[in-house]
Amino acid sequence: MSEPNQEPQQPLVSLGFLDSGLLDLGLPEDLLDTVCQQVAAVSSLAELNAVRIKVSGKRSELLKARQALGSLEPEARRQAGKALNAVKAAVEELLATREAELAAAARAEKLVAERLDLTEVTEPLQHGYLHVITQTWQELEDVFVGMGYRVAEGPEIESDWYNFGVLNFPEGHPARDMYDTLYVDYGESGSTLLRTHTSPVQARVMENQEPPIYVVAPGRCFRQDTADATHMPVFHQIEGLVVDRHISLGNLAGTIQAFTVAYFGTSFTSRLRPSYFPFTEPSAEFDIQRPDGTWLELGGCGMVHPNVLTACGIDPEKWQGFAFGFGIDRLALIRFGINDLRELWTNDVRFLEQF
Ligand code: PHE
Repeated sequence: MSEPNQEPQQPLVSLGFLDSGLLDLGLPEDLLDTVCQQVAAVSSLAELNAVRIKVSGKRSELLKARQALGSLEPEARRQAGKALNAVKAAVEELLATREAELAAAARAEKLVAERLDLTEVTEPLQHGYLHVITQTWQELEDVFVGMGYRVAEGPEIESDWYNFGVLNFPEGHPARDMYDTLYVDYGESGSTLLRTHTSPVQARVMENQEPPIYVVAPGRCFRQDTADATHMPVFHQIEGLVVDRHISLGNLAGTIQAFTVAYFGTSFTSRLRPSYFPFTEPSAEFDIQRPDGTWLELGGCGMVHPNVLTACGIDPEKWQGFAFGFGIDRLALIRFGINDLRELWTNDVRFLEQF
């Protein structure tokens, strides 16, 4: 609340109304002073209204004085009437001034009460991040989709047949030992396993789709491995499969090279080295060369073995194909300059959110 205007009012006497006949009308000499004090003492508009009724209402001295005017001689009445109007105006002004003060104070109080502090400092919003491997996975899909491939999927829990048999691994062949298979206690012993590579998706696609086939199949794989800087028992691969007419090793090499440049940039190149896989013939490892000249092994590839095509119901006299498969995790390490695979699995957000 603001302080009321405390300026003392001039008594009627000094206003020169003494001889105006006002006192004869019964108006107290200190009327304005009294009103001034009463008005100053109120602290709300409701209280002010009560004062207003008292000083200018039906039973007020002002109104009584006005009624008494009638008993005066015409000349005296004229003078007293003029003076009475001046007093009334002064009273009204006192009331109006105080009313404005009270209204302003009420408004100021409301403003303070309803103020919003827009300068308040709050924690910045936390955005979620895609894991490094998810980012790499999606980027690889994009690269291959851009080259005209479709994305295929297969189950992580696989049968011995799809993981090995259909892929031309003979029963008990030592090539199966390369894969440190984790078996699942389900069905006949040794019949169900966690897929050791994404190659079973090749067979599943060929069984379900007529050539020409251009697919990639990214996914999680499992091998009984001790975790170290470059190995984890759970890891990710992306498989590629092409089956079409007149497909040669040249198409394979060209595809690997096109991928290398699309993903790593033109300062990288690739090469194939002879290798062995039961489901491709000939088979190769493929390496990429970094700008500093060093080579890095990325994955395996080769021409789809005729036995595999046949086992999947595709005539190898009519169709040829190539396949490749490589680790997504290792690619992520190269891409982001991370030197220990285990960093991706400890899930320290401070580490992961850098990428
Ligand atoms: N599946 C093989 C592996 O995991 C890689 C590969 C895929 C090889 C396709 C040839 C063709 O080692």
